[in-house]
Amino acid sequence: MKIALGVSGGIAAYKAAEVVRLLQERGIRVQVIMTQAAQEFIRPLTFATLSGEKVITDLFSAGAEPPNIDSAVEHIAVAQAIDALLVAPTTADILAKFAQGLANDFLSTLYLATTAPVVVAPAMNVNMWEHAATQANVEILRKRGVRIVEPGEGYLACGMVGAGRLASNEAIVAAALEALGASQDFSGETVLITAGPTREKIDPVRYLTNRSSGRMGYALAEAALRRGARVLLVTGPTAITPPGAAEVTQVESAQEMHKAVLQLLPEASIVIKTAAVADYRPKAASVQKIKRTTGPMNLDLEPTPDILAGLSRAKQNQLIIGFAAETENVLENARKKLAAKSLDAIVVNDVSRKGIGFDSERNAVTILTRDEAVEVPETTKWEVAQRVLDSIVKLKKRAAIETA
Ligand code: PMT
Repeated sequence: MKIALGVSGGIAAYKAAEVVRLLQERGIRVQVIMTQAAQEFIRPLTFATLSGEKVITDLFSAGAEPPNIDSAVEHIAVAQAIDALLVAPTTADILAKFAQGLANDFLSTLYLATTAPVVVAPAMNVNMWEHAATQANVEILRKRGVRIVEPGEGYLACGMVGAGRLASNEAIVAAALEALGASQDFSGETVLITAGPTREKIDPVRYLTNRSSGRMGYALAEAALRRGARVLLVTGPTAITPPGAAEVTQVESAQEMHKAVLQLLPEASIVIKTAAVADYRPKAASVQKIKRTTGPMNLDLEPTPDILAGLSRAKQNQLIIGFAAETENVLENARKKLAAKSLDAIVVNDVSRKGIGFDSERNAVTILTRDEAVEVPETTKWEVAQRVLDSIVKLKKRAAIETA
C-alpha cells in the first residue's frame, strides 16, 4: 500500500513527520510531497530520511535539472501509483486550490490527477478556518467525497484560542487507514439502504410526513459505494440528489417502501434502515380535496407496516441495521428496539438535540450491538456513515467466526 502525504505550509508541518512514522509502522509506504511554503517550516531532508523516499518539492523538480519529460509527468505517475492522498497539515490555500481545481504546484496537480481517496487535515488560524470562504471550500470538498479530519480547538500558534489546531496524529492516521480500505472492505457486498421520509396521503394535495432530508441515508449510500459495495437505495421524496452509482428506487408511502424493500431483500447482504417511516397513515385517503368547514376535523389513522420488524422475519442471512430517532431515554429505548425488532445493530440519535439528526448536515449517534455501544460524537453525516460501516465490518467478522 502506498500513500502520498502532502505537507503544506503551516507551523503544524513538523507534526507530519510523526504521521509518516505511524503510517510506516502499519506497513504503508509514504511518498511525501511538500509545498514551497511547507519547506519554510521543515526541511525535505527530515521526510526523506524518515520515509526512505525522495521528497517531491515542486512540479518540475523531480530530481532532474533542467527538468525533463520524466519530471514533467511525475504527478501522473504518482497519481496512478498511490492508494490514497493525505494532506496534513492542509492550509486554507490548499483547501481553496483543491476546491477550485487550481493546478499550479505538484500537490494541487496531483489532487486533480488522482482517482484515489483523498483525506485532508486542515490547520490554520481560527478566523481563517471559520471564514465563509474556507467553510465553503470545505463543503465543496466534502460533497466531492474528500474526508475532512476536522481541526481541534485550543491554543493556536498565532496566540488565539479556537478551532484550527491540526487534529491528533491518531485521528489523521485513522482517517488515512479508512481511506486506504475504502475500495476494499465492502467489495462483494450488496447494501440495501432506505433513506428520507415517507408521505402518507390525506387527500390529493395533502399528506403526513416528517423532517427527514435523506442526508444520513445518502451519506451511507455514498460511503458504502466508495468502500466497494453495490448499493440499492430505496428513498422517500427528498430535495437532494442520490449518489450516481446507487441503484435507486423512489417511493412515497410506508406501504411502497415496504414492498420495495421486501422485493430487493434477496439481493442484499446488508440492510440499513435509515428512513424515517411514518408509523401511522390516514385510514382512508380522500379521493377529493377535503373541504374546509367551520368545525374541528378528525383524521382517522391506522398503523403502517413495521418494515424493519418484517425484514427481520423475512431475512435469510443478511445483517439488519436499524436507526432509532429518540427524544427521551435514548439508549434505553434504542435497546428495546434492537431486541424487539431482532436487529444486528441499531444506530440511535437524540433528535431533540439542536443541529443534528433531522434535516441537518451533522449527527451524533451511538451504535448499539448486542455486545457494545460505540459512541460517535457530533460530526458530519459522512463521518457517522463511515463509523456505521466500520461497525458493520466488525459484525461481519464476528458472524464469519461464529459460522466457521
Ligand atoms: O434524513 P436526515 O435528515 O439525514 O435525518 C436522519 C434521520 C434523523 C432520519 C436518521 O438518522 C434516523 O434517525 N432515522 C430513523 C428514523 C425513524 O423512523 O426512527 P424510529 O425510531 O421511528 O424507527 C426505528 C426504525 O424502524 C428505523 O430504522 C425505521 O426506518 C424503522 N421503521 C419505522 C416505522 C415503520 N413503519 N417501519 C420501519 O421500518
